Amino acid sequence: MSIARAADILRAGGLVVFPTETVYGLGADATNPHAVARIYEAKGRPQFNPLIAHVPGLTEAQAQAHLHENARKLAAAFWPGPFTIVARRRPDSSVAELACAGLATIALRAPSHPMARELLASFGGPIVAPSANRSGHVSATTAAHAAEDLGGRVDLVLDGGPCEIGLESTIVAVADDGRVTLLRPGAISRAEIEALVGPIESAHGGAIQAPGMMESHYAPRARMRLDADPPLQGEVYLAFGAPAPAGGATLSATGDLVEAAANLYAALRALDATGAEVIAVAPIPEDGLGEAIRDRLTRAAAPR
Ligand code: TXA
Ligand code: MG
Repeated sequence: MSIARAADILRAGGLVVFPTETVYGLGADATNPHAVARIYEAKGRPQFNPLIAHVPGLTEAQAQAHLHENARKLAAAFWPGPFTIVARRRPDSSVAELACAGLATIALRAPSHPMARELLASFGGPIVAPSANRSGHVSATTAAHAAEDLGGRVDLVLDGGPCEIGLESTIVAVADDGRVTLLRPGAISRAEIEALVGPIESAHGGAIQAPGMMESHYAPRARMRLDADPPLQGEVYLAFGAPAPAGGATLSATGDLVEAAANLYAALRALDATGAEVIAVAPIPEDGLGEAIRDRLTRAAAPR
């Protein structure tokens, strides 16, 4: 059975692409520094970018990090699911230091995708996994997209169909004193987090706390123009709240943000593949999931 084979590959220090509810992950045994190094090599990723350790749940997370009550509250509400907690790493954490890029903190997430959960159970330890794309490319939301980017560089690609959410997890840092900072917006919205722990700070505009938040992280080859209404001549158009125009695409014809998030990366890949010089994107509202979608579009549009 392929899950058991995937677990064997991880034990042997190999790389396995697996589905999660957010995006596909490029997984390795988190405790094996050699395997972790292979992730950076396969992604062509700068080594200072720390990885998320995937675990089955709160118990396993607490073996890796000191979790303040606020962190435990958030984990209870949003795990398993598209939510990552950065907290102070325990001195006896089994996760390789290389995976944390030498930071005093560690990022932890319990995914909900059944295949990811089966893989975690079968492997029996933490699995580090960045998004399964070459560094700087948009994240892969299907097994085919992951294979396109990483095919020859991994030992196995598990196909779990298209990712339900299509955007990377929400990341918060929870400090020892319980202060919560939003490091990366995602499907779990700011409002849902604040309902549990009160007003939270945003890392935007401040010092880069998550090195992966480098401006041009999620980048198609084409240049991007945001809040474009209408497109200019020569641009391919990514619509929202309207059907796909000729030669273009739509994130959601009905203006549904959930559908838009799920379609985002596949749409960017498809429009990039047309060879167009500029992808013009329709205005996206800022509320709820719109914050995360706008965040990814802004990064994709950043000069590079
Ligand atoms: O949905 C997701 O989170 C996907 C799936 C595969 O789980 N993973 C993902 O991983 O998006 P990646 O490596 O593409 O993004 C992880 C982000 C990076 O921006 C990284 O800098 C940040 O998490 N991160 C990891 N450890 C951190 C830490 N200790 N402090 C601050 N940021 C951290
Ligand atoms: Mg990524």
